[in-house]
Amino acid sequence: MATTTEPKRTAKTSAKDNGKTSNNGTSLGVIAGAAAGGAALGLLAMLGRKAAVQAPSALAGNWDDALKAEHKAVLKVFDTLEATDDKATIRRNMLLAHIKHALVKHAIEEENVIYPALREAGKTEQADELNAEHGYVKQFLYELENMPSTSPKWLEKVKEFRAALEKHIREEEDQLFPELRAQLSEEKNKALTLAMNKEGFKVA
Ligand SMILES: [Fe+2]
Ligand SMILES: [Fe+2]
Repeated sequence: MATTTEPKRTAKTSAKDNGKTSNNGTSLGVIAGAAAGGAALGLLAMLGRKAAVQAPSALAGNWDDALKAEHKAVLKVFDTLEATDDKATIRRNMLLAHIKHALVKHAIEEENVIYPALREAGKTEQADELNAEHGYVKQFLYELENMPSTSPKWLEKVKEFRAALEKHIREEEDQLFPELRAQLSEEKNKALTLAMNKEGFKVA
């Protein structure tokens, strides 16, 4: 009796269990599917955001025009930052973070593509000098991040940073970049533009 009941119960239980498992399996499958969908959407959103960040540079045309547009854009954020008062800490920190992201992306584009092309074109000393100046851009960012943004000294440091950056930009825009562009073939300039946008997209 027990033997007949037992297998029946087991069979029932096991059918129930199977049902549960399959239900769970379905739920898990739905969750996994949704998670994968979510991850895919997340990935698409991230790629979309990156594309949007890199778009102004990619649409600016040749590599030197793109870098010029980025210089102009970051100086505009400096304008906004310099117009803040000592109480606007959150805004100051947000604007500084914006400047940092823009300059880090810009430095990657220049250091990974344009400065090597400058060295290739025989301007090693100038490229090394520009590269060293990028080091001081990071120094300014570090110092500003480690100083209370409520201090009037903070804005003084921002102005010092901007002046150093503008000097660096002048060297690039007025002399080295136009010289490099003129020295290279149309094909090589196109290849540099493509490579530079690729580097920018990675960190956008
Ligand atoms: Fe630079
Ligand atoms: Fe630059």
